[in-house]
Amino acid sequence: MQFAFHNPTKIQFGRGQIASISRLIPQDAKVLVLYGGGSIKSNGVYDQVSAALKDHQWEAFGGIEPNPTVETLDKAVARVKAEGFTFLLGVGGGSVVDGTKYVAAASLYEGYGWDILAGKHKVTEALPVGAILTLPATGSESNAAAVISRTATAEKRSFLAPAVYPAFAVLDPDTMTSLPDRQLANGLVDAFVHVCEQYLTVPTGAMVQEGFAEALLRNLVVLASQYEQRHTLEWRENLMWTANQALNGLIGAGVPHDWATHAIGHEFTALYGLDHAQTLALVQPALLRVCFESKQAKLNQMGHNVFGLEGDNVGHRTIDIIENLYRSVGMGTRLGDYQLDKDDVLLQVMTALEGHGMTRLGHQRDVDLNTVDAILRRTQ
Ligand code: NZQ
Ligand code: ZN
Repeated sequence: MQFAFHNPTKIQFGRGQIASISRLIPQDAKVLVLYGGGSIKSNGVYDQVSAALKDHQWEAFGGIEPNPTVETLDKAVARVKAEGFTFLLGVGGGSVVDGTKYVAAASLYEGYGWDILAGKHKVTEALPVGAILTLPATGSESNAAAVISRTATAEKRSFLAPAVYPAFAVLDPDTMTSLPDRQLANGLVDAFVHVCEQYLTVPTGAMVQEGFAEALLRNLVVLASQYEQRHTLEWRENLMWTANQALNGLIGAGVPHDWATHAIGHEFTALYGLDHAQTLALVQPALLRVCFESKQAKLNQMGHNVFGLEGDNVGHRTIDIIENLYRSVGMGTRLGDYQLDKDDVLLQVMTALEGHGMTRLGHQRDVDLNTVDAILRRTQ
């Protein structure tokens, strides 16, 4: 174990916490509120933000789409540069929060913003960001990552920069009451896979990281089994806090990661428009089956400690249980569930991964294109 851990985001958790932004945002800031397609206008969140900002100088920028695009976000960047906003408040799901981080970084960069995603510009400074989360899933509200798409080239890329950690994140479970079931299931599955990407590698002996990861996985298993209680406050609170903790850096500190499922999944979103979590439910069970040997020890551990399995074939049974968990919340796990054609997927996804240099994935860098080919065939 060798790491630095510093998560600077202040979490304001609980009902009614949106009001706290009035004191969390500096009084003299010129605030741009960024939001998505309008859910915050119909569920009362926008009104709460307006009330809390009544003594601040602020304007709004709406229309950030799911899987936010650089084309849309650059319009916000132009406004920030022209009008001199000094604080960005993202109000929405992971897409809005990621988009806000991009705007925060690109606004202090003179070149073309996509350079940040293409790895040509390393972000070292950004405008201050705050987040009001309305969809627990990505953990973006208190991490340093953002995933941005580019429509023109059907690309979806990410960047990581400590400068874009939100200064604060409001997690009010009441904002979740208007979420459609599909988004609740997306949140649960995304959080589950985030824990897996930092846990299902090799045994590390890191008791805090592994033990906490298993606790988060057990939470998500319980929440899936109690899915019919998803409209209760307790269920929402637990999903919101679990999804946050799944990707705030703690369980991943100083242990190997394997983001292969996410890397392959991002190509599915860029090419076919699948929701982020749908791509994970599609790719991950197939990947675990193909990469079984390198993950067997950890799958066994997960089977014992998360699912309480004993006896033979614990690793293989664990993968079956994971796939069934996703299906139990209504998530498709096979190409046919999304009307995707195997031959088209093989051609397009492989070409895209190769074009993006994603040819050595996995914690041991051994998931090459041949392995991806085998994984894609197993998604049938
Ligand atoms: O745009 P609006 O109208 O707000 O509607 C959104 C959107 O249509 C809706 N929604 C959000 N909160 C709502 C609501 N509808 C009703 N009531 C509410 N309270 O939900 C839809 C999906 O929103 P989106 O933000 O796209 O979903 P999610 O939070 O799952 O974010 C997905 C994005 O995050 C990226 C993904 O790749 C994807 O682009 N990720 C970001 C990560 C990070 N920054 O660390 C890690 C993740 O692995 C992920 O890659
Ligand atoms: Zn994810």
